Amino acid sequence: MLNNLFQKVRPRRLRKNKVIRNLVSETKLFKSKLIQPLFVSDSEQEKKAIDSMPGQYLHSRKTLFQEVHELLTLGINSVALFPNISNCKKDINGTEALRSDNFVCNLVSELKAEFPQLVLITDVALDPYTDSGHDGIIVGDDVDNDETLKSLEIMAANLANAGADIVAPSDMMDGRVGRIRKKLEEENHKDTIILSYSAKYASEFYGPFRDAVGSKQVQGISKDTYQMDKRNLEEAVKEARLDLDEGADILMVKPGMPYLDVIREISSKVDAPVFAYQVSGEYAMLQLGIDKKIFKHNVIPETLISFFRAGSSSVITYYAKWVAENYDNIS
Ligand code: PBG
Repeated sequence: MLNNLFQKVRPRRLRKNKVIRNLVSETKLFKSKLIQPLFVSDSEQEKKAIDSMPGQYLHSRKTLFQEVHELLTLGINSVALFPNISNCKKDINGTEALRSDNFVCNLVSELKAEFPQLVLITDVALDPYTDSGHDGIIVGDDVDNDETLKSLEIMAANLANAGADIVAPSDMMDGRVGRIRKKLEEENHKDTIILSYSAKYASEFYGPFRDAVGSKQVQGISKDTYQMDKRNLEEAVKEARLDLDEGADILMVKPGMPYLDVIREISSKVDAPVFAYQVSGEYAMLQLGIDKKIFKHNVIPETLISFFRAGSSSVITYYAKWVAENYDNIS
C-alpha cells in the first residue's frame, strides 16, 4: 500500500531541473515588489557610511538624488525616506516636524519634480525630530497618545501636500490612522495612500536604524509602552483590523524575519495588502555574515522569498538595490 503510493507520488520529479522548478514554483522574487529605504541627512555634504549597516549610507541631499536616479534605472521605483535631522532642530515636542517647509517636505517636492515616476513613501512619526528619540510628545512620564495625534495629522497633511504618494505612520499611537485619513480628506488629498505600520513590535532589531537617523533614546520611557509586545499574535490581527477600519490602504508588519507568522496571520485574516519590513538589524545580521563569509549572497533572496511565501505583497528591504543589480542571476 505505502509502496504503491510512493511509486505514484515522487515529489522529486518536480525538482529535476531549473526549468521545471521554475514552472512549478509558487512564489517569485519580483524587483517591482521591493522598496528601498534611504537615509538622508539635512546637513552632510557627502554620503557617509553607516558603521552598523555595512554597505548602507547616510546620504547628503546631492547623493540622494544620484541614488534615486540609479535605483530607477535599475527598476526599483519606490523608496522610503528617513531623515537624519541636526540636533539643533530637535526639541521635546518635535516642533520641526510640523513645518510645511521643513527639510523633508522640501526634499519630497524636489524629488517628485525631478522624478515624477518615483513612488515616495514618507514616515509619519516624530522620532527624527524629538530630542528624546521618541515617536511622540512626552507629557509627564508618558508618551502622550492624544497630544501626539495632533502633530501626526499635521505632519501627514504636509507630506501629502509636498507630494508624498504614501504616508506611513510608524508611531503606534492609537487612533492615528483615522485622524490622518480625516485630515487628508479635509485637505483634499483623497488619493494619498496610508501604509500603516499596524504590527510594529518593540524590537532590538531597530538598533542600527536608530544609529543611522540619530534617534537613540536618551530618556527613561520605553518604546514598549506603544510598540507591540513580541509575545502577541492575536493583538496584531486586532491592530490590523482597527487600522483598516480607520482608513488604512496597506498594512505593515515589522520586523520581518522573526515575525513571519504575523504576516501569515494578518494576510490570511484581513482583506488588504500586507507589506513586510526587513529592518536594519536583520540587514546588519545578514550582511555581517556575508562579509565574514559565513553565508553566501544566496541568503538574501532566501530571506526575501520567505516574506512572499508568508503572504507579503511587497517588502521594504535594504537589499532592494542589490536584488535589482543581481536580478538576472537570482530570478
Ligand atoms: C521610527 C522608525 C523606526 C524604524 C522605522 N521607523 C525605528 C523605531 O521605531 O525606533 C526602524 C526601521 C529599521 O530598523 O530598519 N518611527
